[in-house]
Amino acid sequence: MSHISVLLHETIDALLAGRTEGIYIDATFGRGGHTQALLNRLSANSRVIAFDKDPQAQAVGAELMQQDARLTMVHASFAELTVQLAQLGTGLVDGVMADLGVSSPQLDQAGRGFSFMQDGPLDMRMDNSKGLTARQWLQDIEEEDLANVLFQYGEERYSRRIARAIKQAGLIETTGQLAQIVKEAHPKWEKHKHPATRSFQAIRIAINHELDDLTNFLPQAVQALKPQGRLAVISFHSLEDRLVKQFIQQQSTLPEQGWLPQPEPDPRTIKKVARIAPSPAEVSENPRARSAWLRVAERLEHA
Ligand SMILES: C[S@@+](CC[C@H](N)C(=O)[O-])C[C@H]1O[C@@H](n2cnc3c(N)ncnc32)[C@H](O)[C@@H]1O
Repeated sequence: MSHISVLLHETIDALLAGRTEGIYIDATFGRGGHTQALLNRLSANSRVIAFDKDPQAQAVGAELMQQDARLTMVHASFAELTVQLAQLGTGLVDGVMADLGVSSPQLDQAGRGFSFMQDGPLDMRMDNSKGLTARQWLQDIEEEDLANVLFQYGEERYSRRIARAIKQAGLIETTGQLAQIVKEAHPKWEKHKHPATRSFQAIRIAINHELDDLTNFLPQAVQALKPQGRLAVISFHSLEDRLVKQFIQQQSTLPEQGWLPQPEPDPRTIKKVARIAPSPAEVSENPRARSAWLRVAERLEHA
């Protein structure tokens, strides 16, 4: 049930950039691996504000808060960053990090309904205190819309065929049933990949609004930073990484103006700092790190 933190030292080094003091945000607490590493490196008068929308993660954070008064744990989506920080009365911060996606405890507990490897109720909500379960969502969605979700969020080539099989199956109660339906409908299994991998990823992204949350979060994270404050984001698949990459690109580049003078004031808010992949040693120890990318940006002085 533990979670091995990915790119742990790389992320903390990039976020702190030599500092040992300040206010930092961990937007995805999980089991607190990154938060704890940050706290270990920070002075007694520093603060870490951690977010997670999973009630189990929040409970672990609440316990850690009892042991370390520098930590504040917030049970909310990082898409609400600005509002939540305002409620806490926090000024600008020195760094914001996010380690996107699901945690190992979410995947490993059959009861959370994320896994095609173990049979459990078809849930898949990160915040299982509200919203539609995957079971309800699959019941309500039209076949064509489901096919679009499987194609866009799972990059599943056989989206139409799989969507048809899912809708024809009627009410699907468990992850095992869904995995079996997808498996039977899938004409071409990829090597080293369960045929339901892409469909499960797509449904999970859709019901948790993962890409919308990330799109909303990124500009709020930059606005929360002091000049020279750092943003560090770890992503695990190309859809997330593309959003982060495009955001950093857009915020760090002057528009193409041809012969026109550059706009005043300078519209750039950040500069690119780094793009880091896990070392081969980390990937061999923790296969979950295989597809990870860390992107780092820094708030500009004038912004
Ligand atoms: C990969 S885990 C983070 C692991 C953590 N860095 C650690 O070392 O333990 C991702 C976590 O982000 C949370 N999460 C995902 N999307 C979120 C969102 N929009 N708002 C808040 N938390 C979110 C998930 O519930 C999960 O616990």
